[in-house]
Amino acid sequence: MERSRLLFVCLGNICRSPAAEGVVLHQLQQRGLEHMFRVDSAGTGSWHAGQPADARMRAAAAGRGIHLPSRARQIVAADLDGFDHILTMDDDNLAAVQALGRGRETKAQIRPITQHCRRHRVREVPDPYYGGADGFERVLDLLDDACAGLIDDLLATGNN
Ligand code: 4NP
Repeated sequence: MERSRLLFVCLGNICRSPAAEGVVLHQLQQRGLEHMFRVDSAGTGSWHAGQPADARMRAAAAGRGIHLPSRARQIVAADLDGFDHILTMDDDNLAAVQALGRGRETKAQIRPITQHCRRHRVREVPDPYYGGADGFERVLDLLDDACAGLIDDLLATGNN
């Protein structure tokens, strides 16, 4: 079977989307499903290109046994054909990715990652960059819920 390709997108690609990438990789490993998916992340901005995830985000993830392997990069139009699913963190990311694909037929389905939450009723994963440690824990709580639901939903629909 073709591997389903997932791209997580936030603003800087150093906090939320690298966390989503790490959380989903962690959950896939726990479920023995890594071979079924290709996972990456990107930012709508380019300021942090080449950087690892923010040290505060990496520390919060490490506290839950989760490694964040990402190096930041900016999303490019070709990603809209190179991925099957693009999962955005907030309304601004969603609008930016939709604008990138405007006027073109694209392969990727684009939607907020919070659509896959089971336990939380939220529209956005809040940007933790300018806040305290609790913001990073909140990001991981939301992503733990959203990523588990995402995997379940993709399995239920045959991955595409
Ligand atoms: P992210 O968080 O979009 O979750 O990676 C941010 C990282 C950096 C900035 C804003 C948000 N920044 O303004 O540099």
